[in-house]
Amino acid sequence: MKIAFVTPEAYPFAKTGGLADVSYSLPQALAHRDHDVLLIMPRYYRVDKNRFQLKQIPVPLGVPMGNGEKWAGIYYSNYVPNITALFIEHDNFFGRDGLYDDGYNAYADNGERFAFFCRAVLQALKVINFKPDIIHCNDWQTALVPVYLRTHYAHDEFYRSVSSVMVVHNVGYQGVFPAEMMQCAMIGWEYFHVGALEFYGQMNFLKGGIVFSDAVITVSRKYAQEIQRPEFGYDLAGVFASLGGRLYGIPNGVDYEKWDPQNDPRIPANFSSKKLSGKKKCKRYLQNRFNIQEIATVPLIGTVSRLTYQKGMDILVESLFILMKEHSCQFVIVGSGDGNLMWRFEELRKAFPDRVGIFWGYNEDLAHLVEAGADIYAMPSRYEPCGLNQMYSLRYGTVPVVHATGGLDDTIVDWFSNRERGTGFKCYDLSPGALAEVFSRVFEVYHNAEEWLKIVRRSMEVYYSWDEAAKEYEEVYRKLQLK
Ligand code: ADP
Ligand code: GLC
Repeated sequence: MKIAFVTPEAYPFAKTGGLADVSYSLPQALAHRDHDVLLIMPRYYRVDKNRFQLKQIPVPLGVPMGNGEKWAGIYYSNYVPNITALFIEHDNFFGRDGLYDDGYNAYADNGERFAFFCRAVLQALKVINFKPDIIHCNDWQTALVPVYLRTHYAHDEFYRSVSSVMVVHNVGYQGVFPAEMMQCAMIGWEYFHVGALEFYGQMNFLKGGIVFSDAVITVSRKYAQEIQRPEFGYDLAGVFASLGGRLYGIPNGVDYEKWDPQNDPRIPANFSSKKLSGKKKCKRYLQNRFNIQEIATVPLIGTVSRLTYQKGMDILVESLFILMKEHSCQFVIVGSGDGNLMWRFEELRKAFPDRVGIFWGYNEDLAHLVEAGADIYAMPSRYEPCGLNQMYSLRYGTVPVVHATGGLDDTIVDWFSNRERGTGFKCYDLSPGALAEVFSRVFEVYHNAEEWLKIVRRSMEVYYSWDEAAKEYEEVYRKLQLK
């Protein structure tokens, strides 16, 4: 099949979170299954033309917007093996440092930027004559593609046999803008009603994508259930519930070429479930790098995370205040995000300077080092569509402590409930006290070296394959093609 994979971010070109990892691995896995995959994303300023060997396609790309037409450039790169990546360039919209925000606030023109991107994608496919069977869209930034397909391009011969798939990686981000955005995006007011793009008087991009696409997929089975309930649906629960058989949950996999301690070049020593001595070295190195005491036997909790409400980092920091007073344990974090949360973690470091290590910012080497060197990985997300870090942690023998929600619940087996198969620990009630309580029970297990080793070894054997996920996507695509 010919698949156009449309995404706002993809590793290694530009990444803010897990979607970028997925946008690297899933196209590869689909290409391995003999599909012809074209990745399409914006050419942000940080997509380095030299490093990624971008070449311009010398054709003008006209994109209807507002009252007229805007012009864009098209570039391509074969930097990622097996995949052609296409970039839409428009200096005014994408020639800035951030992807969606300036580090503090979302860009004020995000609606215009991504409406433009969606329209540009459909224009570009025609210009380069890539006629897809499937257009696979990811998150709200790409969600107007299915809308345009059913409106402006509904009678376009080029798109006659195309089906669109809307993948929802996070319902917490929907792309909601004032109603006037309808005009800017050139979508007729007849679509501004509760059954289409209207959402409490505003225009909701993601809702459009869900309503107008042929299938909606989210990234774990449990999250596919959860989003149909008001607590998780962010006011779209009813829309998800009404999809019936059009809604699927397909769990993400792990790219073990990048995330495997046996051959990870980013960590100071390699190790495997059979030969774990390298992990001890990584722990020492991590402690040294973060300026905390180099002690082998103290439980070291690590996390790599966006600091947001979703990730439950507020709960984590408060639970650590409780925990650090009562137990000898250590904590390291690599992250960025909410300033108040950063401040609270700084307070924690001030209170326990030789036991708390912090790195603010985005750093891939440190993300790998935390995965390799910590004993316990903390992921107390309030909700988690899939989550990748808990799966990376399993591979690195860094036992996850997670809130039993979404993909976290699906991918971790709770040792407290199943000692024979347990790969991690689950917290069912998300409060600082409850989480601290779970950690203190986990420390007891940690100090039982024999049992801990069993859990570590078992978790390292877990395998979440992208090939399996790609097969499931393929099945959905095929169903749509038969229609
Ligand atoms: P989400 O996409 O919701 O942030 P995921 O667990 O799916 O959560 O994926 C997060 C990805 O982003 C992982 O690959 C993680 O290592 C990476 N990541 C998050 N924050 C940082 C950071 N500060 N530095 C490096 N990598 C980070
Ligand atoms: C989102 C979700 C995360 C998921 C990722 C990739 O960022 O928050 O849970 O793993 O997308 O699908």
